[in-house]
Amino acid sequence: MNILAINGSHRKGKNTAVMLQAVLDEAARAGAETELVELTDYNIKPCLACNRCLGKTECSIKDDDMGVLAEKMLAADGIVLGSPVYWSNVTGLMKNFIDRTRWMHMARNLLHGKVGGAVTHAGLRNGGQEHALAIIERFLVAQGLILVDTRDQESGICNGGAMGTMFNNLEEGKISWKRGVHEDLLALEECRRLGRNMVEMIKRLGRA
Ligand SMILES: Cc1cc2nc3c(=O)[nH]c(=O)nc-3n(C[C@H](O)[C@H](O)[C@H](O)COP(=O)(O)O)c2cc1C
Repeated sequence: MNILAINGSHRKGKNTAVMLQAVLDEAARAGAETELVELTDYNIKPCLACNRCLGKTECSIKDDDMGVLAEKMLAADGIVLGSPVYWSNVTGLMKNFIDRTRWMHMARNLLHGKVGGAVTHAGLRNGGQEHALAIIERFLVAQGLILVDTRDQESGICNGGAMGTMFNNLEEGKISWKRGVHEDLLALEECRRLGRNMVEMIKRLGRA
């Protein structure tokens, strides 16, 4: 069983990467092979809107790294996408990547039946996390993936994907900030649940 995490942060190894790694570590504990991909490491050209993918499962752009990423996605049983919230949305890096997967969807959903999960990290408390999460989740569903959330049977308090924030609390009337997602214990617990739920769903579907 393979689970692939794809990070749309412009900052490698930071909050979103930590969250994705928490998903993967838990999935690995449950028996999965895992890989974290940082989109900043890859050259992904913008979609040309040539529409070749309307009729063929093919992209006209061949001279960038999208082919390598597509191979990784096609080989995975589960794909978890993570993005920081930029302007209540996913990052430009993540959106550019999403656009370039159109050929895997238009003629035929090549990722159909795989298991999907979503992770976001934001600066603010109501900074658009749910918008960004919904965009990732909508993408995964449109690509034919089966979406898994952070809920578990023992405690039904979680819903949707995993969301972190830098907001901490009010201390003497001033907003205090977390130093990083490692201080957001709830977000990290959500990530671990997502990892467990992805493995469980992959097994339930008989993919592994
Ligand atoms: C261009 C830009 C736009 C941002 N827009 C938002 C926003 O709309 N809402 C929010 O809560 N945080 C926003 N942030 C803060 C990031 O979401 C936050 O710093 C996040 O932790 C970055 O994740 P990373 O550590 O994985 O890079 C923005 C940051 C940048 C650089």
